[in-house]
Amino acid sequence: MRAHDVKEILIDKQTIAKRVDELVDEIIENERPQQLLVIGILKGSFMFLADLMRGFHRHDAHPRVDFMTLSSYGADTVSSGVVRIVHDVRENLVDATVLVVDDILDSGRTLAFTRKLLLERGAKAVHTCVLLDKKAHRAVEFEADYKGFEIDDQFVVGYGLDYDNLYRELPHIAKVNFH
Ligand code: IMP
Ligand code: MG
Repeated sequence: MRAHDVKEILIDKQTIAKRVDELVDEIIENERPQQLLVIGILKGSFMFLADLMRGFHRHDAHPRVDFMTLSSYGADTVSSGVVRIVHDVRENLVDATVLVVDDILDSGRTLAFTRKLLLERGAKAVHTCVLLDKKAHRAVEFEADYKGFEIDDQFVVGYGLDYDNLYRELPHIAKVNFH
């Protein structure tokens, strides 16, 4: 790990909470939540997904939930380019309408891989929801259906996102400043 600090707050927790509520409204408007299977990509999505689920509750919606653990980074801040399934979904995907939730869309490889895989396994539709979109850094073309914030090409942590599996507990998004 390189010398760094995470003192600079990029998005505070009130701003996140407000945007998550808006995303829930958007999703409720466009999807049929009773039929929805929400799949969180671990580990980064756990906090975002938990807040989305509390939002669904406010709308009296009851989506199904499952998780998939994917890995592409290791202990670096640059994607290795290979997506690996560490832990697979258990819910039946045939004819399911799926909402894949991830922390951040960066190269696009993780979500492109996931969407293709779920469709090949019989899902009827696969929509995607990300908290952050690092638009400038795409290696493959990919647009999320729902996204919280667009950010510049910088490395961030907190609210589930990590640097070498650290700082996931931060309630806000912080910038990693390398010295
Ligand atoms: P992609 O496959 O390159 O789009 O990367 C998606 C995954 O990379 C995310 O789910 C994160 O785990 C990780 N990632 C990308 N950018 C960042 C970042 O700035 N901070 C922490 N993790 C990141
Ligand atoms: Mg990560």
